[in-house]
Amino acid sequence: MANINENYLELQGGYLFAEIARRVAKFKQEHPGADIVRLGIGDVTRALAPAVIEAMHRAVKEMADADTFRGYGPEQGYDFLINAIIENDYNSRGITLDAGEVFISDGAKCDVGNTQEIFSTGCVIAVADPVYPVYVDANVMAGRGGRYNAASGKYDRIVYLPCTKGNAFTPELPAKRVDIIYLCYPNNPTGMTISKEGLKKWVEYAKRTGAVIIYDSAYEAYITEEGVPHSIYEVEGAREVAIESRSYSKTAGFTGVRCAYTVVPKELTGTDGKGNKVQLNTLWNRRQTTKFNGCSYITQRGAAAIYTPEGKKQTREIIGYYMENARIIREGLSAKGFEVYGGVNAPYIWLKTPGDLPSWEFFDMLLNRLNIVGTPGAGFGTCGEGYFRLTAFGSREDTLRAMERIKKGI
Ligand code: MLT
Repeated sequence: MANINENYLELQGGYLFAEIARRVAKFKQEHPGADIVRLGIGDVTRALAPAVIEAMHRAVKEMADADTFRGYGPEQGYDFLINAIIENDYNSRGITLDAGEVFISDGAKCDVGNTQEIFSTGCVIAVADPVYPVYVDANVMAGRGGRYNAASGKYDRIVYLPCTKGNAFTPELPAKRVDIIYLCYPNNPTGMTISKEGLKKWVEYAKRTGAVIIYDSAYEAYITEEGVPHSIYEVEGAREVAIESRSYSKTAGFTGVRCAYTVVPKELTGTDGKGNKVQLNTLWNRRQTTKFNGCSYITQRGAAAIYTPEGKKQTREIIGYYMENARIIREGLSAKGFEVYGGVNAPYIWLKTPGDLPSWEFFDMLLNRLNIVGTPGAGFGTCGEGYFRLTAFGSREDTLRAMERIKKGI
């Protein structure tokens, strides 16, 4: 019999959102009449923007005609989308990128989970605590977690950077040397942001120590305040130390369509066992051309339509809709006396559980008493214990119903 990858045995429980879905399905089975409001996983509920739909329809028509039909596309993505990304997401902010530095994919979750493959399994990773679980689990699967310590709730080879009320949910620099640092801003799960000065500290740290930052900016489109960095490359020198992943899932409702991109600048290097510098862009390109056949043409045409004048206007309206939900949740919870964070530059609201109730107990209470699904903070790490996340991605009706239930029921 084939030996398995024993690193998988170190993974704790199921994947967070799969575990929540399992618990909700069980509850639904036991209470078939329950009218459940789902504000757990950050899954969008608004329809795709008309400009996106029209572009996808046009692309489908092209696929229906042998003269315009497309087979395999470039593994890195089509130029029309790469150029639109560079012009709109980067040049507009004074950032220059080369077309060969942008890689289109089928999701930022895949990219932030896969980029670790181009690094040695001996690398030490640092993550914020609480953290999007994909960064941790992907590295545990690869063997960078070490052993799980049940008492501390941590893997012994991973460096955890506490994000607490005390540090405004932005981590301090690691006390020991690390090789790879995962940062996510606007943050999932806390909904908090980092200042340009704060980000500069990380870039300088990475330059000083030779670490690589994997920067997840999936929620960038939700930034409403001036001065909040939209990309790590706004910081001088970041091209030498950072990979950035961004997704259309939340920006344009693509959770079910699947499209994202990752930027790997050509200046960014790692070292081989002999101390020679190796371009990470070359390694990532090799990885993608081997294991990935590109994101579908129809999808990429849909994504490119987001950058047209109508596409921009329509996606802004959809984001505005969700951010109004965020305001309703934030203000509703504050009025009820909850300590609330996030929800201003991000679609997530991070709240302190009443009376320091453990997160999973609060989850059960909300589900059983009010039929509301949220995400327990403890699922994102030990520092998430005593916190809870609600998403603004529900419909307006569901958001209002949830707040009404919380107002009356807690
Ligand atoms: C979340 O709820 O944290 C996200 O939807 C998960 C994801 O984007 O994969």
